Order: sequence, then structure tokens, then C-alpha cells
Amino acid sequence: MTGDLPPDELRAALHRTADLIADYLERVGEYPVLPPVSPGEVGRSLPAAPPLAGEPLDLVLDDYRRLIEPNVTHWNHPGFLAYFAISGSGPGILGEALAAGLNVNAMLWRTSPAAVELEERVCDWLRQMIDLPPGFHGHINDTASSSSLVALAAARHRLADLEVRAKGLAGRPEVPPLTVYASDQAHSSIDKACIVLGVGQENVRRVETDGDFRLSVPALEEAIARDRSAGAAGKRPMAVVATVGTTSTTSIDPVEAIADLCAREGIWLHVDAAYAGSAAVCPELRALMPGLERADSIVVNPHKWLGTACDLSA
Ligand SMILES: Cc1ncc(COP(=O)(O)O)c(C=O)c1O
Repeated sequence: MTGDLPPDELRAALHRTADLIADYLERVGEYPVLPPVSPGEVGRSLPAAPPLAGEPLDLVLDDYRRLIEPNVTHWNHPGFLAYFAISGSGPGILGEALAAGLNVNAMLWRTSPAAVELEERVCDWLRQMIDLPPGFHGHINDTASSSSLVALAAARHRLADLEVRAKGLAGRPEVPPLTVYASDQAHSSIDKACIVLGVGQENVRRVETDGDFRLSVPALEEAIARDRSAGAAGKRPMAVVATVGTTSTTSIDPVEAIADLCAREGIWLHVDAAYAGSAAVCPELRALMPGLERADSIVVNPHKWLGTACDLSA
């Protein structure tokens, strides 16, 4: 037990919550997609100080009905056409509820065997579904921003002679500036990861794209050569990020040609397939993404098109 509620009270509140969720999804089309509120309005209707005493759950759920539900942007609305549709689903909602009940930390096998083995197995299903070879290991992060951060940290770690993991980057004049290459259409999460990792935004080379918004391989080659040519004062290429499904236009970078270049240059290839990667479960669409299997790391967001609730990034 969670210890905070008598079991019967919790059970009744869960039933009521189930009704709230099902009612919401049944009626979501009746709301305007954008709530009729102005900035600050919801915040002002909440107490400025934390409550000193707990309230009956019915009152809390009434607050949800009155203040929260009508005042979100309704991503589940049939008329919601912004960004990419999120693909919540009935089974996805049930999975979230069950996981909240279990409330385990799956950091180690011992901390929850079933959660760890389920994660590993389902990530391997995803690997098979998007036709990646068996060498790929998968794990779950919250968002693609975290996934790309982790992938680029691995790329940095592969520059083994720099020993960044042990020694860090600061105060080490012997460490050259590291560079990361991505198209001018790549998602801002790549810049953010490079800021966090100590690469620095100025060392993210935004490579030009062609008329179809795909990264230009000759321009990439030139950028790498330019960075390498500066001799001892030169930069050290750390990773190339190819995007499969850019956020603005779903353009697909030429991954195979980029992989060839990365192999020749000994540079880590990260594929940001956060958006379009889910589409690779359809063989006819997978065929539009040749070379995915050559990535050193790849991110796919099941919370975009694979029926899971936000957030789930593999
Ligand atoms: C290509 C691409 N990469 C990364 C992201 C970031 O995804 P997340 O919101 O999961 O961090 C997005 C999502 O908008 C995207 O379209």
C-alpha cells in the first residue's frame, strides 16, 4: 500500500479517475483545440502557497475537471493538426496507470527484474520492427533530447585518448575543441546536447542542405576537412548527426553516404529518427530510410507515432 489512503478510498478514486479519463476522451472533440484562457489565468486560480492540509480526493478531482482539463491544449482533439499528432492510445493509458501503481525504478535488474527485462525485450521488438541488425542495444529515455544527449556522450567517450569521462574538459589545454556536424534543419536538441556536453554551440557545424532540405554531403565533407586542416590548433570531429524526418519538413538526410564518410573519417554517426523513425515499421517506408542500420546510435520516439503516451524515447 502507499500508506496514505485507506484502500477503499483509493479504489473509489481510481474508478472515478478512470471515468474522468474515458469521459474526457469521449468528449474531447467538443472542446476548442486551444483553451480560451490568457497567460497567467490558470496560475492565478491556484493558491499561491502550498495547502497546509490535504483535501478530500473528490475535491482534488473536481479541481482537475474545472481548472485543468478545460485549460490544456487538446492534443487528442481530432482537429489538432499542429506539430506531429501524438499517438496516445487506450493500451498506452493503461500501461501508464499500471506503471504508476508499481512505481519501480528500473535502473538495475535487482531494482525490478520484470521492468528491466520488459524494457529490454520491447526495445528489441522495436529494433526488429524497424529492421535494425541484432547488434543494436536499446533502452528507454524520456525524450529525444535526452536520447541524443546520451548518444553524443557516447560519441565523446569513444574519443578514448581524451579521457573526458575521467578528466572532464575544463582546464585541459591539450584537449582540442570538439566539433559536431548536423544539417541546418536538425532539431535544437542537438545544440542543447552539445552545450551540456561542453562541446559548445559554436562548435556545432550547421551544414547546408539541398533543395529538398537534406544535408549536403559535399558540404559536410568540406566542413570536416576544414576543421581537421587547422593542424594542432584544429578541431577534433566528434560526431555527425543525420536526421531522418526533420521537424519542419520530414526531409531525410542521405544516411548511407553520410555513413560512408563517417566510416572513412572514423567519426561517430548518430541518427536522429525521433520523428520519422516510427514509420520504419512499415517496410515500404523503411525503404525510404536506407542506411539506418549503419548508425552508431539512433533515436526513435514511440510517443510520436507508436501509440505510447508522452514521454517515451528509445
Ligand atoms: C527530429 C527531432 N528530433 C528531436 C526532437 C525532440 O524530441 P523530444 O521532444 O522527445 O525531446 C524532435 C521533436 O520535436 C524532432 O522532431
